[in-house]
Amino acid sequence: MIIAIDGPAAAGKGTLAKRLAAHFGLNYLDTGSLYRAVGVAVLRSGGDPADPPAAEAAARALDPAGLADPALRGEEAGGAASKVAAIPGVRAALLDFQRAYAARAPGAVLDGRDIGTVVCPDAPVKLFVTASLERRAERRLKELLDKGLSAIGERVLQEMKDRDARDSARSVAPLVPAADAVLLDTSEMDADAAFAAAVRIISQRR
Ligand code: C5P
Repeated sequence: MIIAIDGPAAAGKGTLAKRLAAHFGLNYLDTGSLYRAVGVAVLRSGGDPADPPAAEAAARALDPAGLADPALRGEEAGGAASKVAAIPGVRAALLDFQRAYAARAPGAVLDGRDIGTVVCPDAPVKLFVTASLERRAERRLKELLDKGLSAIGERVLQEMKDRDARDSARSVAPLVPAADAVLLDTSEMDADAAFAAAVRIISQRR
């Protein structure tokens, strides 16, 4: 059983994916954390996340043990992630790890941008989770403030717009719903409502 969840930043993918994994007894992989870890590794070494050789070397050296680092959650890490994510060699270096994770018993929920299109194109269940830009920026701001990180609403909104544009316009694995994905718009839903809607969709598809 593989559940592929894609969508733009702060649409509610992570919260939903974690709950679905617990509910169905599956493993969970936040694939954005891989790109974030690569972006942060490049920044820490003083490099430019948009520089292919630096980003590819960081992707090949990635240690999955470091994925829980709280520094990966900030907007700076998200911005660096979307720059390294546009580099084909970085995506290629992270692909095997993601596919191997998905193949491990008893199955997994993976969330990201290209799970249903590239990483797990044969997943029996694909959700494309969206919400309006304003809602997503509001949620991300709250999430950052709740974590004790400093954040300014307007900046979060602008960074989210920039990141959406980069993720949707890139030539490799752009953010698009898979042809067989079910769209779930969470603009007017809280986490419980989104979870209930997803469980309904999944039970119809299994
Ligand atoms: O989901 P999250 O905001 O943590 O992802 C950070 C960035 O990593 C995204 O903006 C996107 O550029 C990239 N990403 C990706 N493919 C994935 C997951 C994340 O390109 N499967």
